[in-house]
Amino acid sequence: MTETARIGVIDSGVGGLTFVREILALCPGADIIYFGDSANCPYGNQTRERILELTFKALSFLQQSHIHVGVIACNTISTLIDTLQSNSEIPLFSVVSPAAEAVARSGAKRVGILGTEFTIAVGTYQKLIRAINPDIELLCQGSLHLAALVDQGAPEQDVEREIVSRFGPLLEHDPPPESVILGCTHYPIVKDFFVRRYPHIEFLDPAVELAKVLTRWLEQQGLETKGQGSLKIYTSGALDVYQRILEKLHIPAPQVLEHKIP
Ligand code: DGL
Repeated sequence: MTETARIGVIDSGVGGLTFVREILALCPGADIIYFGDSANCPYGNQTRERILELTFKALSFLQQSHIHVGVIACNTISTLIDTLQSNSEIPLFSVVSPAAEAVARSGAKRVGILGTEFTIAVGTYQKLIRAINPDIELLCQGSLHLAALVDQGAPEQDVEREIVSRFGPLLEHDPPPESVILGCTHYPIVKDFFVRRYPHIEFLDPAVELAKVLTRWLEQQGLETKGQGSLKIYTSGALDVYQRILEKLHIPAPQVLEHKIP
């Protein structure tokens, strides 16, 4: 009998549920075990060493469920994928690489990249895109606050104010970027704000490309992804925000939604 795919997903908080939405659409039969470290969110304002320490803890917690693969849904953590992979016994997937590759090959001439200050400063998106397409013009901007506002379920006007004040100059650039990577998992949760205010720009969710790449890999491994799977969600933070974001993203109720400090 074919073994059911068991996918571990980590994020600094609720943001990685945007990846869960995409992978459920392609692999409804997989067993998904999610950890969102909301107690320590935002990761984007922490040091590299602290992010690695927290991520290793989260990964070893997920490995207790005998996952076949670890998905680093968080863009900030994904910038450290090489160090993480060299210390991991299971394969790890970064959310950054598939999106960077797709954008570099898309034919776009001017692309925006929004993310945490950490993601933009490390420059992984920039390096990967330029390695494939050195002619592409990249406009990059980080935010210290937007991920945390979304993770805490802050009022809509606070979210909108941060988007406009931090990202407005880039999004109103003349000539405007043709497409913009929402390079933090928390941003696609509030994509409607971006689209409403900047309808002429195409906003890209990197989780979409990652879900495609991961699905191909699971199939190559001969793991079962069809049928009826399961979803278990653990978080170091408050459960009510997860409940709300699950509903907002139309993700069916999980079998488990529990508080957990790894
Ligand atoms: N959601 C994470 C990302 O994709 C980071 C948010 C945070 O700073 O914790 O980059």
